[in-house]
Amino acid sequence: MLFKKAPDIPSSEITPQHLYLNRRNFLAGAAIAGTAAATGVGLRELVSPSTTVFAGNKIDGIKKSAFSTTETVTPYKDVTNYNNYYEFSVEKTEPATLAKNFRTRPWKVTVDGLVAKKQQLDIDTILKMAPPEERIYRHRCVEGWSIVVPWVGFSLSELIKRANPLGKAQFVEFTTILDMTQMPGQRRQVLDWPYVEGLRMDEAMHPLALLCFGMYGEDLPNQDGAPLRIVVPWKYGFKSAKAIVRIRFTEKQPVNTWNISAPREYGFYSNVNPTVDHPRWSQAKERRLGEFFKRPTLMFNGYGDQVASLYNGMDLRKNF
Ligand code: MTE
Repeated sequence: MLFKKAPDIPSSEITPQHLYLNRRNFLAGAAIAGTAAATGVGLRELVSPSTTVFAGNKIDGIKKSAFSTTETVTPYKDVTNYNNYYEFSVEKTEPATLAKNFRTRPWKVTVDGLVAKKQQLDIDTILKMAPPEERIYRHRCVEGWSIVVPWVGFSLSELIKRANPLGKAQFVEFTTILDMTQMPGQRRQVLDWPYVEGLRMDEAMHPLALLCFGMYGEDLPNQDGAPLRIVVPWKYGFKSAKAIVRIRFTEKQPVNTWNISAPREYGFYSNVNPTVDHPRWSQAKERRLGEFFKRPTLMFNGYGDQVASLYNGMDLRKNF
């Protein structure tokens, strides 16, 4: 993706992912071996799969969802160590470490704009609104990599129904927390902070749109958007805003952060569409993390049967 100060060439585009990960593992191993030698601590105690992974608490009572894909789930270590989270860093391997101490409690979400009654909801109240479901979704980043993730959450519509939006509300806007004391990336003007994303109301009410607070049966790791994020599986990953603190209902289309940053490159809709290239690269194929060969990208990321009708009559080249 592009950001204000310097062009971003995704590492995944330069080095095949598996080589890249192997190299990273090698470097991590070398660093750990160095530390072990220097401190006298045995290597076996230091090298463990949890070295860079922050496991959450198990979530009870998770239901399986009929919306899940049966495709192979991407390993946890890849999904939690290769993140786009510019509030922490523009380097994909860094949020795992930099977000380690990010505070996700107490956490309030403001629900305002065109609603019958403005509210401030506590995260733990939100989490009890509906039973947690596991949704195994494909997740396609606009940069050309993809993952398959067993998210935990429930349909965003559950919260929207309770928010009681007014009839004239046409869009929903999501805003990420603004806190540069905790998020070092916000000290740099790489994006217009806070991170804002939006959906049209019918998109947000679609049963596939997920209000997400967990993955792999556990609380969401900080680097993946704890304590609350959106997941919109038929759209490019940047629509899925992390660490949200505000949900606002509007009549006008929200102005999303990536659209401000590069309007020619990132639109409002951002539906996964292999026939519409990004101005700087093709969107026809993607590389699943951990795989060598690219695979074809599917229209609406493979969710066309469910969501294509939302866009009947729209020119998806113009509304990219
Ligand atoms: N949300 C916030 N607040 N900040 C970000 O930088 N990056 C987006 C999206 N949500 C981003 C964000 C992009 S570009 C992608 S691809 C996904 O998060 C990555 O989600 P993941 O790290 O859980 O795979």
